[in-house]
Amino acid sequence: MKVKKAIIPAAGLGTRFLPITKAVPKPMLPVFDKPTIQYIAEELRRAGIEELIIVVGPDSEVIMRHFGAAPELEKRLLSDGKQKLYEIEQATCSFNVKFAIQKEANGLAGAILCAEEYIGDEPFALLLGDELIYAADGEQSCMERLLEIYEKTGKSVIATMEVFGDDVSKYGNIGVKSEENGVMQVDAIVEKPTIAEALSNYAIIGRYVLAGGIMSRLKALKPRNNEIYLTDVLDELAEKGELSASTFNGVRYDVGDKLGFVKANIEYALMSAETGEDVKNYLKELAEKL
Ligand code: G1P
Repeated sequence: MKVKKAIIPAAGLGTRFLPITKAVPKPMLPVFDKPTIQYIAEELRRAGIEELIIVVGPDSEVIMRHFGAAPELEKRLLSDGKQKLYEIEQATCSFNVKFAIQKEANGLAGAILCAEEYIGDEPFALLLGDELIYAADGEQSCMERLLEIYEKTGKSVIATMEVFGDDVSKYGNIGVKSEENGVMQVDAIVEKPTIAEALSNYAIIGRYVLAGGIMSRLKALKPRNNEIYLTDVLDELAEKGELSASTFNGVRYDVGDKLGFVKANIEYALMSAETGEDVKNYLKELAEKL
């Protein structure tokens, strides 16, 4: 079955970014000239997924407003002859977005279950909003790669990257049984292991394509510490030989981390046709003073 829908959990409180996240939901923090959540929507469109379910917290109307129509603003831009800005505005409301509200802070699996009414037991893509993955034009993006593998194998597939040293303990970690044509067969998962517990150097990153039936599996899970964990479903799939993983092209930015956020802002500004040259010159001048 083709993957047509994606879930984007976006209800986190973003406390690491206080005070800005007191009133502004974390997915609305800008990377260069767009909120992070819009990059995720664009990544999905590029991969051919048009139906987005964004799981937001109770105070996130601003995310809904961002993707909604703004007739007054559009009228004004047109009457002022600001065609380019009008097109930018139109692009933000061109996504097919549904919203689900996550009332309780009950983790990633809790967020996914909030989207159940839109997904049922269909396969879906899952994208964590704290991570941006840049792929150059013409290059296969991470999501495109995962969808290609899913379509070939019919199995759930997760994106992975190699990590070393202390970074191993920051991520879910996979055991790799075998590898063929860059597709790894995963046989176990361990969430945020110590270095000694790690199964490999491959970390799970925030891009998944999950096969049909995941919602039912999540609901059947027994809670641990009063919470259910996506990792437990992934581990079940891995044990049954129903989980693959793949590395990807492109650059991953962890925008949930302050340094990652700054790096993403600088690099997206450098890549912009509008500001790239000026930013490059500025950075050179600055580097001389450091
Ligand atoms: C989640 C997942 C983890 C994964 C990580 C990627 O953890 O549980 O397996 O490696 O995202 O960013 P979190 O960072 O939400 O704690």
